[in-house]
Amino acid sequence: MRRVALFAFSGGRKWVVLALLMVATPAFGSDPSTKGSECITCHLRVTPGLVADWQASMHSKEGIVCSDCHGDKHRNMNDANLVRLPDEHVCAECHQEQFDQFAKGKHNHGWNSMNAMPVTHMEPDELMEGGKGCGGCHNMGIKSEAQKKDQRAKGYRYQNNSCDECHTRHCFSKKEAQDPRACQQCHMGYDHPQWEMWSSSKHGTRFFVKQAGKLPKKAAAPTCQLCHLPGGTHENRTAWGFLGVRLPLPEDKEWAGNRVTILKALGVLNPETGKPTKRLEAVKALDMVRLTEEAWKTEREKMIKTCTACHSEQYARLQLEMADRMMKNADRLMAEGIGIVAGLYKDGIIKKPDHYPFAYPDLLYFKQTGGSYIDQVLFRMYMKYRMRTYQGVFHANPDYAYWYGWAAMTKSLGEIKELAHTMRATHKAK
Ligand code: HEC
Ligand code: HEC
Ligand code: HEC
Ligand code: HEC
Ligand code: HEC
Ligand code: HEC
Ligand code: HEC
Ligand code: HEC
Repeated sequence: MRRVALFAFSGGRKWVVLALLMVATPAFGSDPSTKGSECITCHLRVTPGLVADWQASMHSKEGIVCSDCHGDKHRNMNDANLVRLPDEHVCAECHQEQFDQFAKGKHNHGWNSMNAMPVTHMEPDELMEGGKGCGGCHNMGIKSEAQKKDQRAKGYRYQNNSCDECHTRHCFSKKEAQDPRACQQCHMGYDHPQWEMWSSSKHGTRFFVKQAGKLPKKAAAPTCQLCHLPGGTHENRTAWGFLGVRLPLPEDKEWAGNRVTILKALGVLNPETGKPTKRLEAVKALDMVRLTEEAWKTEREKMIKTCTACHSEQYARLQLEMADRMMKNADRLMAEGIGIVAGLYKDGIIKKPDHYPFAYPDLLYFKQTGGSYIDQVLFRMYMKYRMRTYQGVFHANPDYAYWYGWAAMTKSLGEIKELAHTMRATHKAK
């Protein structure tokens, strides 16, 4: 076998690799100075763009080569299936601290929470295990051996690693992960348009103006990372979370009643008895809601501390308390909408779909809500407009909070009332 020694020269930013010395040797990569060179020589032909990426990485400078992550079982043109596709444990061999933080954070629940949704198992595998839909964003979280086996059995080989979602392979660059655009692919769109909200808020526009060199380098412009991964931590969690419900119930009686209605429509409380269902266990296990006042406060206080780098504490508290109160307002509209649709189920005007646990609207079937068109309107009101209402306030974006959020919720509620009226009238007429 031929051995190739590689020398890398740095010319400005571009790396030029020259194969200089060729010697015969039986051992593969046993000499540290030539470690990994076979992979590179061949891959410079097979996947040159990928090798260039690796050459620009900190890994390459530190002598971390292809085989450190991929193993060295695959050696030729025809045995590529022998490679190891590295999961997070491989990264942990050298980055234990980031691995441990990540494992404690919400991102580590991404894959499991997707799979906990009843809708997931009704959708095409390409969009899940294949990563083309839900599974593309929810490829966050360390998968168990059983999950990986299941994925392979269905014919899906990739998506074994979450760490390359923010610092993408094969640059694995810290600077890339510090840029808010690293979050954009996932935190955008239908039910979580944080990218859109942040980038058009004063926080985001300042970031871009600063980037264009029109503000001093030291000008304040908070990024997603500054607020959500402070101090470079890999553990992420917010007080309200995504679903925007939490326990214990609020002292305010009206709000408590409205939240119970929402919890029923999420299927975590039995709509007839009000008792917890099995689904609540899954929601608890996946950290989807803060279950105690302390857990909520811990996250809230961390966030206030972050704001006070630039704003007064008083200012920051008032901003976040207003957002909490908007949640109360949003829940009032939401509970009214749920109540109207639930009434149609109760009176037999909408028939319970076979896959539903109860004759009650079920928001966790997402777009697969089987009941009726009015269920779709209700789903949109919750997942799209209620989200925007409070996410917009928290992210200091007036347009999202009002026009895309609150105003659209009001419109949905009007539509629900109108539809229910017609459905009742035509039902009687039959
Ligand atoms: C003689 C050429 C050659 C050598 C040497 C070689 N590779 Fe490859 N490698 C290939 C080819 C060809 C493919 C398949 C590319 C394709 O599917 O288009 C491949 C694919 C891969 C893949 C992707 C596998 C997949 O599932 O998609 C990885 C990872 C990889 N090589 C890593 C390595 C590592 C690490 C080494 C050194 C231990 C190495 N290669 C040595 C030619 C080579
Ligand atoms: C720091 C670890 C690390 C190093 C070093 C590394 N890779 Fe990878 N590589 C990964 C990860 C992570 C994946 C994605 C695995 C997955 O999605 O299941 C990957 C995927 C790949 C793939 C398949 C996906 C694609 O985009 O085509 C190829 C080919 C590949 N690597 C080649 C190489 C080659 C060649 C080298 C050396 C120049 C190298 N890798 C070095 C971690 C590494
Ligand atoms: C064999 C050890 C080793 C493995 C395995 C490894 N790394 Fe690294 N990595 C290093 C070293 C050494 C550095 C440079 C020093 C540092 O920043 O810790 C580094 C740096 C980094 C950086 C910072 C780069 C920068 O721009 O400053 C990131 C991000 C990173 N690695 C991610 C990963 C990911 C993701 C994996 C798994 C796919 C991985 N590493 C696997 C050793 C390793
Ligand atoms: C590959 C997609 C993806 C990328 C990239 C991504 N995230 Fe996430 N993020 C998710 C998913 C999925 C969840 C929900 C995880 C779960 O199921 O609990 C999430 C959850 C979060 C949460 C927790 C919300 C809560 O419930 O409390 C925060 C905060 C967050 N991400 C911030 C970020 C930031 C900041 C970045 C960029 C540095 C980022 N994310 C990049 C997919 C992604
Ligand atoms: C564009 C990327 C993307 C797609 C596609 C996507 N999600 Fe998400 N999902 C996220 C992000 C990001 C979060 C966290 C958002 C937040 O906290 O505001 C999330 C949150 C969730 C949560 C709540 C987790 C928690 O702990 O609160 C569930 C459940 C969920 N998604 C399931 C799904 C299902 C099922 C699908 C497909 C029908 C899907 N997602 C499609 C990115 C995505
Ligand atoms: C949600 C996005 C995101 C994910 C997922 C992610 N990282 Fe990071 N990573 C970052 C950010 C942001 C930084 C920069 C932190 C800072 O500013 O110090 C970073 C920095 C790093 C560094 C450089 C640390 C230093 O101080 O030089 C390493 C190493 C690293 N990450 C490893 C990992 C590993 C291992 C995983 C998977 C277990 C992972 N990351 C997953 C966002 C992410
Ligand atoms: C100025 C600080 C700040 C910035 C910048 C920021 N956020 Fe947030 N984010 C917040 C606050 C405050 C909350 C609500 C926390 C709570 O529940 O008390 C929040 C909530 C979230 C949540 C969970 C609740 C939800 O909205 O569904 C996610 C996910 C999230 N942000 C992602 C992002 C992403 C991605 C970016 C960048 C595009 C970003 N944030 C920028 C402060 C910020
Ligand atoms: C890194 C500094 C920084 C951090 C951290 C920060 N902000 Fe800001 N924020 C600014 C700057 C600068 C402005 C623009 C000030 C102006 O409008 O004159 C701003 C504007 C705002 C505005 C809009 C004011 C308006 O006039 O429209 C709100 C609301 C706000 N911040 C809330 C928060 C909250 C809540 C937090 C914490 C979750 C936070 N900010 C964290 C720097 C920061």
